[in-house]
Amino acid sequence: MIEENRHQKILIAEDLSKSFGGLKAVEHVSFSIERYGVTSIIGPNGAGKSTFFNLVNGALRVDSGRVVFKDEEITALTPSDRLRRGMARSFQITNLFFDLTVLSNLQLACQFIEDRKRLFQHISNSQRAHARAYELLESFGLQEKRDTLAGELSHGEQRRLEIAVTMASKPDLLLLDEPTQGMSHGDTNDTSELIMSLSKETTVLLIEHDVELVMGLSKHVMVMSQGMKLAEGTPSEIRGNHDVQVAYFGESQ
Ligand SMILES: Nc1ncnc2c1ncn2[C@@H]1O[C@H](COP(=O)(O)OP(=O)(O)OP(=O)(O)O)[C@@H](O)[C@H]1O
Ligand SMILES: [Mg+2]
Repeated sequence: MIEENRHQKILIAEDLSKSFGGLKAVEHVSFSIERYGVTSIIGPNGAGKSTFFNLVNGALRVDSGRVVFKDEEITALTPSDRLRRGMARSFQITNLFFDLTVLSNLQLACQFIEDRKRLFQHISNSQRAHARAYELLESFGLQEKRDTLAGELSHGEQRRLEIAVTMASKPDLLLLDEPTQGMSHGDTNDTSELIMSLSKETTVLLIEHDVELVMGLSKHVMVMSQGMKLAEGTPSEIRGNHDVQVAYFGESQ
């Protein structure tokens, strides 16, 4: 069944635009994403990558354009409506509770996705959230850190926990905004492997500054520059694209 869906578009962003005052942060960007694997967005600082994410995710309202997710138009839906439909995101800035343990952070995230009727019960009452939290502890290799406060984890472990939190709802589409930001080389490699393994069960849309990491992980890449889509294609098409070399890599031939 997965094979059947493999080449279907899970997300279609049509002609999205967003301005802040006079600044065109995203300008007429159309982009679609096939199911499974890693699709990435690269581009210099201020290119509009996070703004594009916010339009896809509903954190920002589009000025114009449409977002279609799993064949349903979702342009007017809130982020939590989109989360319920299977779209989850991580933030460029952390969204962990530093004074809670790793397990509590995961339980809270799992609790959040429980049915509304369960939402007002105490965490320990929710067997499903509890089971899912332990599943995440294991699949993200965080068992030994279960009772450690999130604030006491290393930077790499915190980012790993963040991705685990984002996976609590078993999303169909996972949006990751610079998950390796500030990480050591070793942590970056671990995260890269983690993203690769996640992308077998969910579709990953990744914003990332580390071009080598992107080229190694992605099946499809969009390059943004000054709010616009400069190019898209396979990693080798992107490497060979003259406009990208000039505008992004700063090469002049
Ligand atoms: N809420 C906002 N209000 C005003 N301007 C904003 C807002 N968010 C982003 N911008 C501006 O829009 C442009 C695009 O920003 P955005 O954060 O989308 O870029 P980015 O590609 O994610 O950059 P980075 O790589 O630094 O994260 C920038 O000029 C930024 O200053
Ligand atoms: Mg950004």
